[in-house]
Amino acid sequence: MAEFLFITDLDNTLVGDDAAMQQLLDQLTHHRDQYGTKIVYSTGRSLTSYQQLKAEKQLVEPDALVTGVGTAIYHQEAGEPNADWATLLSQNWDRERVRAIADSFEDLMPQPDSEQGPFKVSYYLHPSVAPNILPQLEAKLQREALAVNLIYSGSKDFDLLPANAHKGYAMTFLRNAYGFAPERTVACGDSGNDRAFFAVGTERGIIVGNAMPELLDWHSHNPADHRYLAQAHYAAGVLEGLAFFGFLAS
Ligand code: GLC
Ligand code: MG
Repeated sequence: MAEFLFITDLDNTLVGDDAAMQQLLDQLTHHRDQYGTKIVYSTGRSLTSYQQLKAEKQLVEPDALVTGVGTAIYHQEAGEPNADWATLLSQNWDRERVRAIADSFEDLMPQPDSEQGPFKVSYYLHPSVAPNILPQLEAKLQREALAVNLIYSGSKDFDLLPANAHKGYAMTFLRNAYGFAPERTVACGDSGNDRAFFAVGTERGIIVGNAMPELLDWHSHNPADHRYLAQAHYAAGVLEGLAFFGFLAS
C-alpha cells in the first residue's frame, strides 16, 4: 500500500450513511498514519456551515478543507484561507458587476448572506426555468466580457465563481502543492458541482451510486477509464471505488 491524495465532497457523498462513513474514515486515518495519505474535504458549504456538519457528524480533521465550491482553501480550520489561491481567484474577478447582472434576473433568488463569499455569488434557481435562464445569463456576462464559472447543482443551487475557481481547479492546486501524481489522486462526489473533479484531468474519480441525474447524465455522455460509478451509496460507494482502483484493500 502507498500514500494517495483522497478528496471527497461531504453532503450525500461522505455523509449519508453513518456506519459506512465511520468505516471509511477509520480506514483513511489508518492509511494517513501509516503511509502519509492526505485527506481533503471539498464542499459547497461555507466554513461556518461546514463546522456545523463536522460537529454533528464527528468528522475527522482533514489535511485541507476546500469550502464554497472551490473558492477557499484552508490548511487549518482556525487559520486564514490560502492566500496564493485567493490571489489567483481575484484575477479578472469583478464580484459587484457579476452580482448586479445576476440580480437583474428575477428567477434567481439570492441565497442567505452566510453562503455568499468574496469569490462566490450564490442563488437558488428552479429547475423548470434553469434551461431558459442559464444561456441568457451566460450571454449577458459574455457581452460584458466577464469570465465567470456558472455551476448549477442539486437541481436548485446556482453559483457564480471566478473563471479559475471550481472544485477541480482547487483539487489540482492541492495535488501540486502536496506533490501527488494524478493517478495517486482520487476525488469523490454525487452532484453537479462535483463534475469539475472529473472533468479537469485524469485524476481518479468515484461517483457514488446515489448520485444526482445531473451528474449521472454527464457521466454517461463522457465515460472515462479513470472514473468509476459505484453501485453502493454514500461512503459505501466510496469504499467500493477505492477498492476498485486499488487504493484500499477490499
Ligand atoms: C452548498 C452551499 C451553497 C451552494 C451549494 C452548491 O449547499 O451552501 O451555497 O450553492 O452547496 O454548490
Ligand atoms: Mg454532495
